[in-house]
This record gives sequence, structure tokens and C-alpha cells, in this order.
Amino acid sequence: MKNLLVTGGMGFIGANFIRYLLYESDFKGSVVNVDLLTYAGNMDNLAGVEKEFPDRYRFVRCDICEREKMQEIFDRFKVDSICHFAAESHVDRSLVRPDAFIQTNIVGTFRLLEIARGLGGGLELFHHVSTDEVFGSLGDEGSFTEETPYRPNSPYSASKAASDHLVRAYSKSYGLPVTISNCSNNYGPYQFPEKLIPLVILNALEGKPMPVYGDGRNIRDWLYVRDHCSAIWAIMKEGRRGDTYNVGGNNEMENIDVVRLVCDILDEFCGLYEKEPRRTLIEYVKDRPGHDRRYAIDSSKLTGELGWNPQESFATGIRKTVRWYLDNRLWVDRVRSGEYKAWIEEQYGSRPGRKLG
Ligand code: NAD
Ligand code: DAU
Repeated sequence: MKNLLVTGGMGFIGANFIRYLLYESDFKGSVVNVDLLTYAGNMDNLAGVEKEFPDRYRFVRCDICEREKMQEIFDRFKVDSICHFAAESHVDRSLVRPDAFIQTNIVGTFRLLEIARGLGGGLELFHHVSTDEVFGSLGDEGSFTEETPYRPNSPYSASKAASDHLVRAYSKSYGLPVTISNCSNNYGPYQFPEKLIPLVILNALEGKPMPVYGDGRNIRDWLYVRDHCSAIWAIMKEGRRGDTYNVGGNNEMENIDVVRLVCDILDEFCGLYEKEPRRTLIEYVKDRPGHDRRYAIDSSKLTGELGWNPQESFATGIRKTVRWYLDNRLWVDRVRSGEYKAWIEEQYGSRPGRKLG
């Protein structure tokens, strides 16, 4: 893998992955990061990287759905491998406006696969980053394995399931060298504050109510983002072509316990909020429609075959994450202020429409 295309590299996981590749891994090639910079794409996530790696890192703003422009990027950078993160990623948004999910997650993946197919023997790998949400919801027992049937329940998870099927079909029908990873909930630095953990950290810090959906007893299986990045890199290097791998950290938690823990850590780091424990700010609100009850990942294929293991437990990872949001107030302020969006428009011109919104 000499010339790696990373899509969605200005998002939460993509940016962490590019940092991991360049600063920590044994990857020796170059990265071209293609991202549309939707509300979720943030150039601050990779601040300084272009300067530090002028020969190994480039950013190009582009919509992955734009076939001709993407083809030009493939040609110009002599792309030989792809790690595909770009997606609309937030379940709540997909319930209100699914259109962009269908377009980016399904059509966008299809466009990339078509261009990749055109590379013939010049394609080393197409790695598709996907989610455990494609498997639907679990009861009290058991966990998702690579053999669990797909039963997506939201427009987001259905669009990711469709993209997984396309990737698999291109492997079977055209012999494309692909790998797919299905990962559980990530948390850590640079996560956009619409997702549970950063939202709760910032609300609790500022004394705002923390919305907990339904009875708060839905279960998610949390993985620190750097562990997800190391898993993806292990699969890209050594995963069996045509295979899928589940990725998770054995950290099942009820949402209410996650929120309470964040409150307690903030009380410890910053003192009580107006003399009250932050737990008093928790507010139960109307449930998310179709809210999956429980996710749990069995990643024994990945640990057994590739020797990957997560380095953080939830107890250590969540403390690091809270500390990161406290130490990076400028990032937080910019991402929430609209100042960032104004700056992007100054750099690239405004493109009204579905993505920039
Ligand atoms: P994110 O929303 O933070 O980032 C998505 C990135 O994709 C943004 O930078 C955005 O600008 C870019 N993008 C969106 N539409 C685009 C388009 N049409 N063309 C080019 N770029 C576009 O998402 P994330 O949380 O970093 O998730 C990344 C990937 O990992 C997604 O495919 C998601 O399904 C998957 N995933 C996420 C999690 C999680 O917990 N966040 C877990 C498992 C899998
Ligand atoms: O499982 C992997 C998936 O994890 C990824 O594929 C998605 O891209 C990612 O967004 C995440 O999906 P979730 O819906 O699980 O994440 P979210 O942070 O939105 O919600 C986590 C849990 O917390 C979920 O049960 C809903 C609940 N929740 C969420 C928010 C935003 C609340 O109770 N209150 C909230 O305000």
C-alpha cells in the first residue's frame, strides 16, 4: 500500500486513523484524504499534519459521489488502496432526513467501488469501515459474530448494511480485494458533540441538562477510537481478503451508567457544579424511534487470527476523553460556534445544498 486514499479523513474516526497511520504505525506510504467537509468534517482535526508530512499527506475536498472528480483524484495520486470512512454517521439525523445517508453511504460507496474496479490488478485493497448496527438489536444474551444475519433498524444502519453488501458483492463478482470491519461505538478525541459522550461531557461541564433517551438502559459496547484505528490497520495489513471482521472492546455499558460516570469524572476534575453533583442535571427524554436495545461485539476472530487487542478499558479511555475535551476548549468552541463553517466557506467558497446545509 503505497498510495492510500482515506475517505472521510476529516471526521472523528478518519482523522484519528490518519494520525495513527502517520505518527504511530509502520505505514511508509502516502495518504490522500478526500472529504467533503460536511457539518461533521473538521479541518481542525488534522491541524498541522499537512505541514509536518508535506511529502506523505494531502487533503482534497471532494464529494465521493462525484465520479469524475474522484476518478481524477485516483489518477493524480496513483491510488492503489482505499480505506473508506466517509459517511453520514448519526442515527438521529437519519431518522429526520435520510436522503444524504442514502446518497453518501450507498451511492458514494458504489461510485468508489466502480472506480476501484477500474484499477484492475492495480488495486491492492479496498477496506470498508462499517458498524455493528447492521446486525440490529440483541436481547439480554449473546453477541454479534461475523455470521450474525443483518437486521438493520434505522435508515443509517440500513444504508451501511447496503454498502457492506455492495462491497461484498464486488469481491465475489469481480474479485476485488476487499476487507470489511464492523465496529461498535467509538469514543475519544475529536468526536463531534452530537454523539452521546461528547454531548454529555460538554453539557455537564456547562451545567446544561443531559438528555437520556427512554429509560437509559440501552446498552452499547464502547471502544476507544485509537483501538479501532489499530484494528483497522491490522485488518488492512493481514486480514483475509474477502473477509469481514468484528471490532469491539468488551465494554458493554447501559447509557445511564455512561452518563453518570462522565458526571462523576467531571465532578472530580472540576469540582461540583454550583455545589451540586452533575448527576442532578440528567434528564430522561422521549425515546429514539426504533432505538436498538443492546449491542455487544464478539471480536474473537480479530483477536485470534490477527492478534489484535484493545489497549484501553472503558475506565481508562473515558478519563482520557473527558480530559481531552477539557484541554481542547478552542476546538470545542470553534466546532460549535459556526466560526469554523465560515472559515471553510472563505477557503473553498460556499456550496449551498444538501451537504453543507
Ligand atoms: P463522522 O460523521 O465524524 O465523519 C464522517 C466524515 O465523512 C466527515 O468528515 C464528513 O465530512 C465526511 N463525508 C460525509 N459525506 C461525504 C461525502 N459525500 N464525500 C466525502 N466526504 C464525506 O463519522 P465517524 O464517526 O468518524 O465515522 C466514520 C465511519 O466509521 C463511518 O463510515 C461510520 O459508519 C463508521 N463507524 C462509526 C462508528 C462510531 O462510533 N462513530 C462506529 C463504527 C463504524
Ligand atoms: O454502534 C456503532 C454506531 O455508534 C456507529 O455506527 C454510529 O455512527 C455512531 O453514531 C454510534 O451510534 P449510536 O446511535 O449508538 O450513538 P449515539 O452517540 O448517537 O448514541 C449512543 C446511545 O446513547 C444510544 O443508545 C442513544 C443514546 N443517546 C444518544 C444521544 C445523542 C441518548 O440517550 N441521548 C442522546 O442525547
